Amino acid sequence: MITLGIETSCDETSCAVLRGKDEILSNVVSSSLFRHKPFGGVVPEIASRHSLEQIDVVYQEALSQAGIRADEIDLVAVTRGPGLIGSLFVGLCFGKALSYQLGKPLVGVNHLEAHIAANFIGREEPAKYIGLLVSGGHTSITYHTKGKVKILGETVDDACGEAFDKVAKLLGLGFPGGPIIDKLARRGNPKAYSFTLPKQDNPLDFSFSGVKTAVLHLVQKQTSITPDFQQDVAASFQTAAVNWLIKKTLKAAALKAVKVIVVGGGVSANSFLREELTKLSGEENKEVWFPAMPLTGDNGAMIARRGIDLYQKGFKSDLKLGADPNLTVN
Ligand code: KG4
Ligand code: ZN
Repeated sequence: MITLGIETSCDETSCAVLRGKDEILSNVVSSSLFRHKPFGGVVPEIASRHSLEQIDVVYQEALSQAGIRADEIDLVAVTRGPGLIGSLFVGLCFGKALSYQLGKPLVGVNHLEAHIAANFIGREEPAKYIGLLVSGGHTSITYHTKGKVKILGETVDDACGEAFDKVAKLLGLGFPGGPIIDKLARRGNPKAYSFTLPKQDNPLDFSFSGVKTAVLHLVQKQTSITPDFQQDVAASFQTAAVNWLIKKTLKAAALKAVKVIVVGGGVSANSFLREELTKLSGEENKEVWFPAMPLTGDNGAMIARRGIDLYQKGFKSDLKLGADPNLTVN
């Protein structure tokens, strides 16, 4: 079975072709990041216009790299939310038109579920696991068993990736901040500054707004922002944020007595999170799965992979399928 996955929920425009569940024939991504950089964040109108401009080019390139014709597509999977409404519409309209033209089934995919499903390209989904979703817009810990998902904890304010981006902005490091902080933190002293773990009513919930304010106060006290200061704050912030993620994720894994932890979302690319969670999970006899690096950010392959799961479970969308900017995991 050949599946086309289409992703346009934010600043990336992507189409991918999967053969079966495991073989990525192509995964083409056109990012509009360079267009947002001058503004220090994603500008929704620019993102949707970029997707509109790029979607057909990206689709043609995905077919060409996969070496297939359009009529060989068996299933069209497309992101239906959450995300920016204008961007979502571009992919959704394209996917619906293609499904109608080819006479092939359409399935709408939840972007958050797809980030976790990126781990199941080339690996069977475990029967029971804890999911850790860490992206630019979402942070949650979920319990997955027999195809059902339960949210155990989520952020009450900023998402983890958003916190990386905001801290980087405060330090004058540019956008997006996650990869910059990841790199810079390697040279900094992680013990230079300490940040207090906020207390939550639900111990598996997260809050990242306090640490952002703490960094703001540190910056305000400086007469000048030196490279040493930037790298020490980057290292201290990253250590605190990642340790919170790990502590809560391991707590959830112990609570539900699961052996496997599956991580997804843009922040799953973070080198310190990958090293540290792998080490600490091993010490507790747990296994941790991260997506392959090219599948950590937004991409069509993860949408195709999740679409196949849904289709095989009997889900099918019709041409009335709508975009839902606030879609959650259920
Ligand atoms: O999943 P994603 O590509 O888009 C959303 O669905 O939001 O996540 C983007 C987020 C951004 O906040 C970005 O700064 C963060 O992922 N990110 C990272 C790293 N690479 C990307 N955060 C920390 N370390 C990284 N290496
Ligand atoms: Zn994403």
